[in-house]
Amino acid sequence: MPRFAYVNGQYRRHNEAAVHIEDRGYQFADGIYEVVTVMNNKLIDEEGHLDRLERSLKELQIAMPMSRQVFKMVSRELARRNGLDNGLIYMQVTRGVAPRNHAFPAANVPPAVVMTTKRMNFNKMKKFTEGVSVITIPDQRWERRDIKTVALLPNCLGKQKATEAGSYEAWQVDGDGYITEGTSSNAWILSKDKKLITRPLSNDILHGITRRTVLQLAAEEGIEVEERAFTVDEAYDALEAYATSATSFVTPIVRIDDKVLGNGKPGHFGQKLLAAYTDYAEGAGAS
Ligand SMILES: Cc1ncc(COP(=O)(O)O)c(C=O)c1O
Repeated sequence: MPRFAYVNGQYRRHNEAAVHIEDRGYQFADGIYEVVTVMNNKLIDEEGHLDRLERSLKELQIAMPMSRQVFKMVSRELARRNGLDNGLIYMQVTRGVAPRNHAFPAANVPPAVVMTTKRMNFNKMKKFTEGVSVITIPDQRWERRDIKTVALLPNCLGKQKATEAGSYEAWQVDGDGYITEGTSSNAWILSKDKKLITRPLSNDILHGITRRTVLQLAAEEGIEVEERAFTVDEAYDALEAYATSATSFVTPIVRIDDKVLGNGKPGHFGQKLLAAYTDYAEGAGAS
């Protein structure tokens, strides 16, 4: 259990930290969040995560509660207080506290900010060496999946289905049979002709920060990339597949529903991308 959480300007003991019962995040899921990974005491892709945090707030017309500089300072101070060398920093901003009413409160109601940390040991994760399986499920979310809101109920229901099936992730499928993304990660396949395929940016998916980095790294590795939607059948027929997110890095997928990919082991391209990502996370992407 971490020792401290940051709540509205104060570092509180984690087991005593609390928000008001009329916080709009609690009543309406009226808020946004970010997850930044910490590796060897450095934050990965911090600027990208703060860019997206600002964008999500703007899309929901919530004011930036404090400057980027203060976000950076508080993240580091919380990580320091919690002795977090490897793990994640969770940041959440809601529209604040007001008597329950669907319409926004008065402009002078300040947004509420919470930050917590979670320790993780990235070195010992079997998912990177053995790979994982995913299931496919219908995408039941709203039409602004590009905003990283705390309204994650369909994602939770999907992840629970995956967990019950013994799988790592559920890939969500739109009405036309195309995969959008996982419940907490972006979805990728490597086709038999060795093209790396992932859905293009739109309101249909979260604009993953890891996705963006992996696209750059793939280009540097000379891997041909196609940003386009792909179907479930194409995924079944793929050579390799991956899930990317701040804490998944590039996780190899070795089975989709009951279709085993390749020889059922993480493939060459995925291992190459994972190694490139880890190097990046320890070098150019670290701050
Ligand atoms: C639905 C969804 N897609 C994709 C991602 C991956 O985003 P990132 O790489 O920025 O962690 C996440 C991360 O939480 C997510 O929740």
